[in-house]
Amino acid sequence: MSRKIGIVGMGNVGAAAAHYIVANGFADQLVLIDKNEAKVKADALDFEDAMSNLQYHTDITVNDYSALEDADVVISAIGSIKLQDNAGDDRFVELPFTRVNAREVAENLKAAGFHGKLVVITNPVDVITSIYQQVTGLPKNHVIGTGTLLDSSRMKRAVASRLGLDPRSVVGYNLGEHGNSQFTAWSTVRVLGKPITELAEAGGLDLEELDHEAKVGGHTVFHGKKYTNYGVSTAAVKLALTIMSNSLTEMPVSNYREEYGIYLSYPAVVGNDGIVEQLQLDLTQEELDKLQNSANFIKQKYAESQE
Ligand code: 2OP
Repeated sequence: MSRKIGIVGMGNVGAAAAHYIVANGFADQLVLIDKNEAKVKADALDFEDAMSNLQYHTDITVNDYSALEDADVVISAIGSIKLQDNAGDDRFVELPFTRVNAREVAENLKAAGFHGKLVVITNPVDVITSIYQQVTGLPKNHVIGTGTLLDSSRMKRAVASRLGLDPRSVVGYNLGEHGNSQFTAWSTVRVLGKPITELAEAGGLDLEELDHEAKVGGHTVFHGKKYTNYGVSTAAVKLALTIMSNSLTEMPVSNYREEYGIYLSYPAVVGNDGIVEQLQLDLTQEELDKLQNSANFIKQKYAESQE
């Protein structure tokens, strides 16, 4: 069965996702869409120049929404160049631009009859994921934001760096907004078979410092190169592969949570039907309060996006 992925938005993020997919042969067909026709055609030609030095072949189509009708997954990587001036380190600076562009893409996907799963990177991702779901009319569990999948990776990186471990040795989640109201749910974090709270009590780990480092990780990268792309594109492709392979993996992604009435990041089992099962964590009261605070913030920002 031919695996088909679409990427809408071939800026730094979309291009990194496309390269990861082509270099690893994750898709048999790749549809690349961008308003900058010259750029996306050049990207396709550039990838075709790579083919003779790759183990895999990928058929690449550009700027054809009708080719997305039978795509397994479409990744929204559209962004806003306005982000270059994000001195305030707030992903909502993009909202006035991305909410318009996302609606346009969503309308095009709907018109094309797209009926696969939509993976959303576009910021502010929790609100934009909600807009995508509403405009496309796709089932809520088929529209998923990368959310704190990336922030949880940053938390793992920060914790692992303190302990001299590979980040994959750390399990646990950042929850809530993929933004400044997110938090690390330390009650979910384990390392070397022990709750991290035990390791912290034994000394040497400052959980507040680690929480902050994870939360601002995107801003830290942004301040160095005026965008981020490798971390978030890798998270998006992992999510797409989890869907296409039906590997039924639990991941902290932005999904619609009835109890909050919005999209926010909370662990769910992901498979071919998108969000297959939603988890219920045993969070501390402090964590529940932080999650409610983050949910309230996203809800307020969503309401503003509807004005
Ligand atoms: C990040 O944190 C782009 O929001 C994404 O890297």
